[in-house]
Amino acid sequence: MSVEKLVVIGQGYVGLPLAIRAVEAGLDVVGLDLDDSRIKRLGAGESFIEDITTARLTAALATGRYRPTSDYGDAKDFDVCVISVPTPLRDGAPDLSYVEHAGSSIAPYVRPGCTVVLESTTYPGTTEELLRPLLEEATGLQSPGDFHLGYSPERIDPGNPTWRLENTPKVVSGVDATALARVDGFYRRIVEQTVAVDSTRVAELTKLIENTFRQVNIALINELTMCASELGVDVWQAIDAASTKPFGFMPFKPGPGVGGHCLPIDPCYLSWQVKRTLGRQFRFIELANDINHEMPQHVVQRLMVGLNKQGRTINGARLLLIGLAYKKNTADMRDSPAVEVAARLRALGADVRAVEPYAEAHHIPTGVTVVDLTEAEVDAADAVLIVTDHDGLDYEMIGRSAKYVFDSRNRCTGRVVERL
Ligand SMILES: NC(=O)c1ccc[n+]([C@@H]2O[C@H](COP(=O)([O-])OP(=O)(O)OC[C@H]3O[C@@H](n4cnc5c(N)ncnc54)[C@H](O)[C@@H]3O)[C@@H](O)[C@H]2O)c1
Repeated sequence: MSVEKLVVIGQGYVGLPLAIRAVEAGLDVVGLDLDDSRIKRLGAGESFIEDITTARLTAALATGRYRPTSDYGDAKDFDVCVISVPTPLRDGAPDLSYVEHAGSSIAPYVRPGCTVVLESTTYPGTTEELLRPLLEEATGLQSPGDFHLGYSPERIDPGNPTWRLENTPKVVSGVDATALARVDGFYRRIVEQTVAVDSTRVAELTKLIENTFRQVNIALINELTMCASELGVDVWQAIDAASTKPFGFMPFKPGPGVGGHCLPIDPCYLSWQVKRTLGRQFRFIELANDINHEMPQHVVQRLMVGLNKQGRTINGARLLLIGLAYKKNTADMRDSPAVEVAARLRALGADVRAVEPYAEAHHIPTGVTVVDLTEAEVDAADAVLIVTDHDGLDYEMIGRSAKYVFDSRNRCTGRVVERL
């Protein structure tokens, strides 16, 4: 069966790129989101996600085959529905209420032969233990049997110009061989390569392996960096040197902490499930979370010591933060360590200004003034703190003009620069 009508529930960092790519691949796409303001902006051709340029969004709208909407009624007669809604934590436990809400809302439009795919990151078993019974009860249909159900983890890397949705291999799964064939057939129209796995649980775990691997390795290098700094060894040079080993080593960079919707959250889905099902701790994840959560405070502490050496205190200091987003070249401030650093510095009495070229006014933390990166701003600051190393900023000027720079990303050089 050729897919004609696609519904993508959730038009955020994951759902919007998928919807636009599907339009470009020739599908009719309904982009569903309960956030009216997002839908209005999308309808007006205004993208809020860096990876989707205004030109691409406008072109998608111009085809007449992309319909952003908050009305589930527009999902009627869909062939494939992809669910890409948030899966946050609530009091340390998975909050699947968005998935449940999306499932209940799409259920009236599920009909025999259609396909539903979950993309939201979650613990193994969610598709078959939570989404399947929910859809079966609401529709009176069965899967396998009447409709097809699958899971495909999402690998969007916001701001990555090399690895985009279409050229990143996509892991696909289904509740049976027919569902897998449907899910695979759909994604083959969207991406260059699919990787089929045997079950939805394997696909769900695949995503958690990927993110846990990153979280643990970042924590390892963060702890190593804190120790190396006290030992007086240049960890950055050591990482570069270790990276010349052509096998058995993969470089991870230290930083001010992890943020966004993935790394601080997804591994907790796994540790929560291990605890719930096996009754024991996933120690690597617990430890990695602890170390990575420590980093914003460590950065503040190091800045405090650095300022102290200049005869200054944080209280009353004018500080210029470079970057507020959790990731370079993006606007995403969700759980950003930079936002935590700014809050801690303000609580200590600093006047905090920030350079954030991607900032949207309503996301700027309270009490932080966003300024342009000028020599005058750098010169007037008691210290510059590089938290997010967006490209396109004049780091040479910062190194030259600042009184003191604490660089948590190894982006700046100069006599007054101290690195994490
Ligand atoms: N952002 C990333 O880089 C990334 C990477 C990997 C995995 N993920 C995972 O993908 C999933 C989605 O993340 P995201 O970053 O796209 O989130 P997002 O917050 O950017 O977008 C989710 C959208 O879903 C909408 N929504 C929520 N409930 C809804 C409902 N019932 N019906 C319709 N719309 C609804 C929200 O209004 C929001 O616009 C999460 O599980 C996340 O962990 C995200």
